[in-house]
Amino acid sequence: MMILVIVIFGIVGCRNSSVNESKKENVPVESWSDGLKEYEASWPNRFDFGRSASKEFIAKWDIDVRPDGRGLPKGNGRPAYGALMYKQKCASCHGKNGYEGPEVKLVDDGSGANIIGNYWPYATTIFDYIRRAMPFDRPGSLTDQEVYDITAYLLSLNQIIDADDEINEQSLPKIEMPARKQYVLDDRKGGKEIK
Ligand code: HEC
Repeated sequence: MMILVIVIFGIVGCRNSSVNESKKENVPVESWSDGLKEYEASWPNRFDFGRSASKEFIAKWDIDVRPDGRGLPKGNGRPAYGALMYKQKCASCHGKNGYEGPEVKLVDDGSGANIIGNYWPYATTIFDYIRRAMPFDRPGSLTDQEVYDITAYLLSLNQIIDADDEINEQSLPKIEMPARKQYVLDDRKGGKEIK
Protein backbone atom coordinates (compact mmCIF):
# COMPACT_ATOMS: atom_id res chain seq x y z
CA MET A 1 0.00 0.00 0.00
CA MET A 2 2.74 2.42 1.06
CA ILE A 3 4.69 1.75 -2.10
CA LEU A 4 1.61 2.39 -4.21
CA VAL A 5 1.02 5.77 -2.55
CA ILE A 6 4.62 6.83 -3.20
CA VAL A 7 4.36 5.77 -6.82
CA ILE A 8 1.11 7.71 -7.32
CA PHE A 9 2.55 10.83 -5.66
CA GLY A 10 5.64 10.45 -7.73
CA ILE A 11 3.66 10.43 -10.94
CA VAL A 12 1.47 13.37 -9.87
CA GLY A 13 4.58 15.28 -8.83
CA CYS A 14 6.20 14.75 -12.21
CA ARG A 15 3.11 15.69 -14.08
CA ASN A 16 2.72 18.87 -12.07
CA SER A 17 6.24 20.05 -12.65
CA SER A 18 6.10 19.40 -16.36
CA VAL A 19 2.77 21.27 -16.57
CA ASN A 20 4.32 24.24 -14.73
CA GLU A 21 7.33 24.33 -16.97
CA SER A 22 5.35 24.34 -20.17
CA LYS A 23 3.11 27.07 -18.68
CA LYS A 24 6.15 29.21 -17.93
CA GLU A 25 7.51 28.86 -21.45
CA ASN A 26 4.26 30.08 -22.94
CA VAL A 27 3.89 33.20 -20.79
CA PRO A 28 4.87 36.26 -22.83
CA VAL A 29 7.62 38.46 -21.36
CA GLU A 30 5.25 41.46 -21.07
CA SER A 31 3.11 39.58 -18.59
CA TRP A 32 6.13 38.93 -16.45
CA SER A 33 7.02 42.60 -16.29
CA ASP A 34 3.35 43.47 -15.67
CA GLY A 35 3.43 41.04 -12.80
CA LEU A 36 6.55 42.70 -11.44
CA LYS A 37 4.95 46.14 -11.68
CA GLU A 38 1.93 44.86 -9.82
CA TYR A 39 4.21 43.42 -7.17
CA GLU A 40 6.13 46.69 -6.87
CA ALA A 41 2.87 48.60 -6.53
CA SER A 42 2.07 46.50 -3.49
CA TRP A 43 5.23 47.75 -1.70
CA PRO A 44 4.76 50.21 1.15
CA ASN A 45 6.05 53.78 0.73
CA ARG A 46 8.60 53.17 3.42
CA PHE A 47 10.21 49.98 4.57
CA ASP A 48 10.86 51.46 8.00
CA PHE A 49 14.54 50.86 8.08
CA GLY A 50 17.36 53.38 7.79
CA ARG A 51 16.92 57.00 8.84
CA SER A 52 16.87 60.38 7.15
CA ALA A 53 20.27 62.02 6.86
CA SER A 54 20.29 65.18 8.98
CA LYS A 55 22.18 68.31 7.89
CA GLU A 56 24.74 67.66 10.64
CA PHE A 57 25.21 64.07 9.48
CA ILE A 58 25.77 65.13 5.86
CA ALA A 59 28.15 67.89 6.96
CA LYS A 60 30.40 65.27 8.58
CA TRP A 61 30.84 63.57 5.20
CA ASP A 62 30.89 66.72 3.12
CA ILE A 63 34.54 67.52 3.75
CA ASP A 64 36.18 67.58 0.34
CA VAL A 65 38.81 70.22 -0.25
CA ARG A 66 39.37 71.21 -3.87
CA PRO A 67 42.75 72.03 -5.40
CA ASP A 68 41.88 75.75 -5.33
CA GLY A 69 41.20 75.57 -1.59
CA ARG A 70 37.41 75.54 -1.73
CA GLY A 71 36.20 73.53 1.25
CA LEU A 72 39.16 74.34 3.50
CA PRO A 73 38.06 75.19 7.02
CA LYS A 74 39.35 78.39 8.60
CA GLY A 75 42.51 77.73 10.53
CA ASN A 76 46.26 77.70 10.51
CA GLY A 77 49.08 75.27 11.11
CA ARG A 78 52.71 75.35 12.15
CA PRO A 79 55.37 72.72 11.45
CA ALA A 80 56.60 72.72 15.06
CA TYR A 81 53.17 71.72 16.41
CA GLY A 82 52.72 69.24 13.59
CA ALA A 83 56.03 67.57 14.49
CA LEU A 84 54.68 66.63 17.92
CA MET A 85 51.45 65.35 16.47
CA TYR A 86 53.31 63.41 13.78
CA LYS A 87 55.42 61.64 16.39
CA GLN A 88 52.33 60.53 18.30
CA LYS A 89 49.99 59.65 15.47
CA CYS A 90 51.94 58.95 12.29
CA ALA A 91 55.52 57.88 12.97
CA SER A 92 54.59 54.30 13.92
CA CYS A 93 53.64 53.65 10.29
CA HIS A 94 55.57 56.26 8.30
CA GLY A 95 58.80 56.31 10.26
CA LYS A 96 60.49 58.78 12.59
CA ASN A 97 61.58 61.00 9.70
CA GLY A 98 58.79 60.13 7.30
CA TYR A 99 60.71 57.66 5.15
CA GLU A 100 61.60 54.64 7.32
CA GLY A 101 58.24 52.93 6.90
CA PRO A 102 56.88 50.34 7.31
CA GLU A 103 54.19 52.16 5.28
CA VAL A 104 54.57 54.52 2.31
CA LYS A 105 57.19 57.24 2.35
CA LEU A 106 56.08 60.80 2.95
CA VAL A 107 59.54 62.29 2.64
CA ASP A 108 62.28 61.85 0.05
CA ASP A 109 65.14 59.57 1.08
CA GLY A 110 66.89 59.71 -2.26
CA SER A 111 65.32 56.42 -3.43
CA GLY A 112 63.31 58.08 -6.19
CA ALA A 113 59.97 57.01 -4.70
CA ASN A 114 56.89 59.05 -5.54
CA ILE A 115 56.19 61.20 -2.52
CA ILE A 116 54.27 64.33 -1.64
CA GLY A 117 57.19 66.59 -2.54
CA ASN A 118 57.82 65.26 -6.04
CA TYR A 119 54.46 63.84 -7.07
CA TRP A 120 51.50 65.66 -5.54
CA PRO A 121 50.33 68.61 -7.65
CA TYR A 122 48.32 70.45 -4.97
CA ALA A 123 49.14 71.22 -1.34
CA THR A 124 45.44 71.32 -0.49
CA THR A 125 45.21 67.60 -1.30
CA ILE A 126 47.56 66.83 1.57
CA PHE A 127 45.09 68.46 3.95
CA ASP A 128 42.12 66.72 2.33
CA TYR A 129 43.78 63.31 2.32
CA ILE A 130 45.04 63.40 5.89
CA ARG A 131 41.73 64.68 7.20
CA ARG A 132 39.69 61.97 5.50
CA ALA A 133 42.05 58.98 5.55
CA MET A 134 44.73 59.20 8.24
CA PRO A 135 45.77 57.81 10.64
CA PHE A 136 45.03 54.70 8.62
CA ASP A 137 43.64 52.90 11.67
CA ARG A 138 41.60 55.90 12.91
CA PRO A 139 40.50 57.98 9.92
CA GLY A 140 38.46 61.07 10.75
CA SER A 141 39.85 61.26 14.28
CA LEU A 142 42.00 64.37 13.78
CA THR A 143 40.75 67.89 14.48
CA ASP A 144 41.11 70.48 11.72
CA GLN A 145 43.80 72.14 13.86
CA GLU A 146 45.80 68.91 13.99
CA VAL A 147 45.43 68.42 10.24
CA TYR A 148 46.68 71.95 9.57
CA ASP A 149 49.69 71.45 11.85
CA ILE A 150 50.61 68.06 10.38
CA THR A 151 50.16 69.35 6.82
CA ALA A 152 52.52 72.21 7.64
CA TYR A 153 55.02 69.76 9.11
CA LEU A 154 54.93 67.49 6.06
CA LEU A 155 55.34 70.49 3.76
CA SER A 156 58.38 71.57 5.74
CA LEU A 157 59.87 68.04 5.79
CA ASN A 158 59.46 68.07 2.00
CA GLN A 159 61.22 71.45 1.93
CA ILE A 160 58.28 73.21 0.37
CA ILE A 161 57.85 75.66 3.24
CA ASP A 162 60.30 76.72 5.96
CA ALA A 163 60.21 75.18 9.42
CA ASP A 164 58.88 78.40 10.93
CA ASP A 165 56.35 79.22 8.19
CA GLU A 166 52.66 79.16 8.97
CA ILE A 167 49.95 77.92 6.63
CA ASN A 168 46.28 78.87 6.66
CA GLU A 169 43.20 78.54 4.46
CA GLN A 170 44.38 81.46 2.31
CA SER A 171 48.01 80.52 1.85
CA LEU A 172 47.72 76.73 1.44
CA PRO A 173 46.08 76.89 -2.03
CA LYS A 174 48.73 79.37 -3.17
CA ILE A 175 51.62 77.01 -2.52
CA GLU A 176 53.11 75.92 -5.84
CA MET A 177 53.97 72.23 -5.53
CA PRO A 178 57.12 71.16 -7.42
CA ALA A 179 55.18 68.48 -9.38
CA ARG A 180 52.44 70.88 -10.49
CA LYS A 181 54.05 71.61 -13.85
CA GLN A 182 54.33 67.92 -14.69
CA TYR A 183 50.56 67.58 -14.91
CA VAL A 184 48.52 68.58 -17.94
CA LEU A 185 44.82 69.19 -18.09
CA ASP A 186 43.04 66.10 -19.40
CA ASP A 187 40.84 67.67 -22.04
CA ARG A 188 40.18 64.48 -24.03
CA LYS A 189 36.66 64.06 -25.28
CA GLY A 190 36.78 60.48 -26.45
CA GLY A 191 37.16 61.08 -30.18
CA LYS A 192 40.04 61.58 -32.59
CA GLU A 193 41.65 64.12 -30.32
CA ILE A 194 42.73 61.42 -27.82
CA LYS A 195 46.42 61.88 -27.22
C1 HEC B 1 48.38 52.29 10.97
C2 HEC B 1 49.32 52.78 10.00
C3 HEC B 1 49.26 54.23 9.61
C4 HEC B 1 49.23 55.34 10.42
C5 HEC B 1 49.22 55.39 11.94
C6 HEC B 1 49.26 56.48 9.53
N1 HEC B 1 49.30 56.07 8.23
FE1 HEC B 1 49.41 57.27 6.60
N2 HEC B 1 49.33 55.66 5.39
C7 HEC B 1 49.21 54.36 5.81
C8 HEC B 1 49.03 53.50 4.68
C9 HEC B 1 48.85 52.00 4.71
C10 HEC B 1 49.01 54.35 3.55
C11 HEC B 1 48.78 53.96 2.10
C12 HEC B 1 47.30 53.96 1.90
C13 HEC B 1 46.88 53.69 0.50
O1 HEC B 1 47.69 53.78 -0.44
O2 HEC B 1 45.68 53.40 0.33
C14 HEC B 1 49.22 55.69 4.03
C15 HEC B 1 49.29 56.80 3.21
C16 HEC B 1 49.50 58.09 3.66
C17 HEC B 1 49.66 59.24 2.80
C18 HEC B 1 49.67 59.23 1.28
C19 HEC B 1 51.08 59.15 0.79
C20 HEC B 1 51.22 59.02 -0.71
O3 HEC B 1 52.11 59.63 -1.29
O4 HEC B 1 50.41 58.27 -1.31
C21 HEC B 1 49.80 60.32 3.61
C22 HEC B 1 50.00 61.77 3.18
C23 HEC B 1 49.74 59.83 4.97
N3 HEC B 1 49.56 58.47 4.95
C24 HEC B 1 49.84 60.65 6.08
C25 HEC B 1 49.69 60.17 7.38
C26 HEC B 1 49.65 61.04 8.53
C27 HEC B 1 49.82 62.55 8.48
C28 HEC B 1 49.46 60.25 9.62
C29 HEC B 1 49.28 60.66 11.04
C30 HEC B 1 48.21 61.57 11.32
C31 HEC B 1 49.40 58.88 9.15
N4 HEC B 1 49.53 58.87 7.78
C32 HEC B 1 49.25 57.78 9.97
C33 HEC B 1 49.30 53.90 7.11
C34 HEC B 1 49.29 54.71 8.23
